[in-house]
Amino acid sequence: MTRQRLGVCYYPEHWPESRWREDAELMKGLGLSFVRIGEFAWLRLEPNAGAYRFEWLERAVATLDRAGLKVVLGTPTATPPKWLVDRMPDMAALDVEGKPRKFGSRRHYCFSHDGYAQECDRIVARLARAFGGHPAVVAWQTDNEYGCHDTVLSYSQAALRAFRKWCEKKYRAIAALNEAWGNVFWSMDYRSFDEIELPNLTVTEANPSHLLDFQRFSSDQVAAFNRRQTEIIRRFAPAATILHNFMGAFVDFDHYALSDDLDVAAWDSYPLGFLERSSHDDDFKLRYMRVGDPDFQAFHHDLYRACGRGGWQVMEQQPGPVNWAPWNPAPAEGAVRLWSFEAFAAGAEAVSYFRWRQAPFAQEQMHEALLLPNAEPNDAYHEVARISKELAALDARVETARAQVALIFDYESAWAWRIQPQGQDFAYFDLVLAVYRGLRRAGVSLDVIPPAAAAVAGRALIVAPALFAPSRDFAEALATSGATLLLGPRTGSKTADFQIPDDLPPGVLRRLIDIRVRRVESLRPNARVPVSGQGAFVRWREVLAVGDTVAREIESDDGETALARCDDVFYLAGWPDEDLLTCVLRRVFDVAGLAALELPEDIRIRDNGAMRYVFNYGVEPTDISPLVGDETLLLGERLLAPCGVAAFRRRG
Ligand code: GAL
Repeated sequence: MTRQRLGVCYYPEHWPESRWREDAELMKGLGLSFVRIGEFAWLRLEPNAGAYRFEWLERAVATLDRAGLKVVLGTPTATPPKWLVDRMPDMAALDVEGKPRKFGSRRHYCFSHDGYAQECDRIVARLARAFGGHPAVVAWQTDNEYGCHDTVLSYSQAALRAFRKWCEKKYRAIAALNEAWGNVFWSMDYRSFDEIELPNLTVTEANPSHLLDFQRFSSDQVAAFNRRQTEIIRRFAPAATILHNFMGAFVDFDHYALSDDLDVAAWDSYPLGFLERSSHDDDFKLRYMRVGDPDFQAFHHDLYRACGRGGWQVMEQQPGPVNWAPWNPAPAEGAVRLWSFEAFAAGAEAVSYFRWRQAPFAQEQMHEALLLPNAEPNDAYHEVARISKELAALDARVETARAQVALIFDYESAWAWRIQPQGQDFAYFDLVLAVYRGLRRAGVSLDVIPPAAAAVAGRALIVAPALFAPSRDFAEALATSGATLLLGPRTGSKTADFQIPDDLPPGVLRRLIDIRVRRVESLRPNARVPVSGQGAFVRWREVLAVGDTVAREIESDDGETALARCDDVFYLAGWPDEDLLTCVLRRVFDVAGLAALELPEDIRIRDNGAMRYVFNYGVEPTDISPLVGDETLLLGERLLAPCGVAAFRRRG
């Protein structure tokens, strides 16, 4: 079992070489075991085309190595240098308005540009050859945060050409594409694949099927771009771990698909920045402004554990105020430790902080780090010192076990409902997170899973909100999974082509529960559909026709079916508010034979094997004795302080 570790992100090229040794020794003294470097250093590595300057990086790696630190080396392809951009100006992505995304920050490239891809092959191969055999370089990070700054979709000529080819490969005959997209509508038929346009700059909304295929194509382009790098790195560094650092609340490409080419999925966790950017109301944001949403990080830990097929890390952990959210408050004392242990509790192999030392220059000068710009320790430095001692004392290791409860998260569904929300606030991500929160508040440690047959076996309960277009095979896998199922709203409501299924939603899932969705309506923010004194539908509700084998388990006040049930399959006909969700989950748990806990409002728990962690996201000390029973605490106290973390090993 992997021992859980700490690391940091470091930019040796930002500091005088005379300082590197001291930094490395401080890092080691702090209890860090690895350092990520290099991911934005293309210009320093190749100041002019073909003139490689790797010596400084060799010395930096050697310095870290001598201090006993391992290295995660980033490929620098998120920051193509000016000389390269000037040589091939059409490598820039074009935004939805058709404007080029210029040099002067980062990620100024189009995933479909073959010339740029070849330049990446070249620099990655050079680096992999130079460092692939280095004993300290144990892992490689491809690029940096694919898609950050809204860079997945590009409307360039390169993208257009590649999209036409992609469509031809998928549909073979243009008539098949026209039919799948429903192009007879508004005379949108194409006569050949060469006529296909990109779905931007249309007068009103573009065809949803066209938009969805463009999104699928763009997602495939990101995965293909990444795969070129992983193949090169594996050639020169067959034993190294290959990872990528994904983001939070980011769905623009299919992270499961891309992760198939990685060994480990990493993600960058900025709880306060994410909260400020979220759709929560001001009260929620104020309440959690210094600790973050108590469930957001945990959801991503579970999501990226699924992406990495068990192997995952936090590559960038927020250490202080960031610079990029609408407001950038400071973490509460202890929040960095709380976030770090939340990751370890979810089975992270490592947590690494962004960044070692605050840069006094350029875009991120207001972003705090473990060290102040003048190299004095900042608050998070002291917290990390504490975490590293505690981690060593716990001898914490990654445990892997399939959770009894699984929540499906599907990238195509996120795209589909963004393309066709039907109600302005129908956001798939928010719905899944709300359900996740409900499950977590009931004390459940769960797995987030893709809609794949292999992921549903051996579960007691599977929850599938708004799953856009489950395949026939997946419907079959659900039917034979033996699990209790909670489906809906909107689950099975389209075909993969983005059409309404022949015999109405839930399409292929009707074999699991004999219902038909005959009407849907979206609800404006101040509208609710009350459900028999147990909460209400908000945002979205559906009107069902139910067959003879189906029980109307819960009804809305207007006499419609709110929760339908056939044996151990449930269908929820709307977006539940918190009360309704709690009530529905409790019923479903009963049928699945699961126990729900009553956790105090800001307390969360998470199991990593036999180890149970308890977290306090609130501002009051909270007595967690009922959760601990007579077990011995290895960390924390029974009266758990704000930002407190407790841990104990459960017997049996
Ligand atoms: C991440 C990115 C880092 C840095 C950081 C600042 O999105 O990977 O390079 O920009 O944000 O919070």
